[in-house]
Amino acid sequence: MRAMVVPRFGGPEVFECHDVAVPEPGAGQVSIDVAHVSVNFTDVRNRRGDGLGTPPMIPGIEVSGTVRAVGDGVTDLRPGMAVTSLTGGHAYAEVVVADASRVLPVPASLVGDPVAACLMGVLPSALNLLRLAGKVFPGESVLIHGASGGVGTTLVQAAHLMDLGPVFGTVSTEWKADYARNYAFSRVFLRDGFDTALMEATSGRGVDVVFDPVGGEVRARSFEVLAPFGRLVHFGNASLDTEVVPDATWLRAKCVGYVGYSGGQHAGLDFETVSRSWRQAVDLVASGAVRIDVTRVFPLEAAAEAHRAIEAGEVVGKVVLEV
Ligand SMILES: NC(=O)c1ccc[n+]([C@@H]2O[C@H](COP(=O)([O-])OP(=O)(O)OC[C@H]3O[C@@H](n4cnc5c(N)ncnc54)[C@H](OP(=O)(O)O)[C@@H]3O)[C@@H](O)[C@H]2O)c1
Repeated sequence: MRAMVVPRFGGPEVFECHDVAVPEPGAGQVSIDVAHVSVNFTDVRNRRGDGLGTPPMIPGIEVSGTVRAVGDGVTDLRPGMAVTSLTGGHAYAEVVVADASRVLPVPASLVGDPVAACLMGVLPSALNLLRLAGKVFPGESVLIHGASGGVGTTLVQAAHLMDLGPVFGTVSTEWKADYARNYAFSRVFLRDGFDTALMEATSGRGVDVVFDPVGGEVRARSFEVLAPFGRLVHFGNASLDTEVVPDATWLRAKCVGYVGYSGGQHAGLDFETVSRSWRQAVDLVASGAVRIDVTRVFPLEAAAEAHRAIEAGEVVGKVVLEV
């Protein structure tokens, strides 16, 4: 079968298309004939050596497709079922193996839709970021950095489902701001100078919770826009800047908090809660309550182009590979 392999850490150009053996499911696993692969920012990090995995490796953690074969002990999934899955790697391929506990049936309305590959990543993260990391209350105000991305666009929708408001966003460029304004943000600011604009928009109060996947200077400035008892939730460091470590005395004096979130680690800490968020995300998208916008679909062999586009800041919403 074809698979996109990262033979060594590096830029998008390191991708090579290899012919590799079809993997077989072990006990408690299924193999999936992959239809679509969601390209997550974590794949970019893993490829460049800033995440998990050791080359040579096949990246990719999130797919949709059809169950090909089931391993011993799997009773609720059958060959031929349309499924979505978090695979724990190896997904940029024609066939991938996943733990059955991380595979869900795809609702009929989404079968064959590239969105089906994106159900267990960004939206469950958004739900858990809001509820568990941010511990938001109805009416609280929120600032979302990376507002036009996969997580940002689902965070804003989930925030409204929880009756939060107002919800502000930041992006790097004007065209991304135009895109983000299709969602229910109260205001979308350019990243440069967002702190001044936000303090003006909130009459100097700031916001209750900031969700930050960017880090660096953006993170440092974000502490300054927290209202009393505000929380800054960090869930990524796309800027690759040195992690910001605020002074504990400063946090105490400002009466604010700093919380981290990792969906991957969360599943290891409390699988039942994460599993519930996967099922809820599938239901929210199937019912139309939340929209996941796949804006670019690349062929599997063009994984390098997909990564290049993401790293060049050329994409909004979700990017998917078609197998
Ligand atoms: N902790 C978790 O569980 C978890 C789960 C999912 C995602 N994440 C993290 O959340 C972030 C967003 O994920 P996503 O799936 O929404 O990815 P995405 O759709 O690719 O969006 C990435 C966003 O990060 C912003 N960004 C800022 N600096 C960047 C840089 N140097 N290179 C690329 N993007 C940059 C981009 O917006 P601008 O161009 O407007 O800056 C973009 O909207 C990533 O850092 C990812 O690792 C964490």
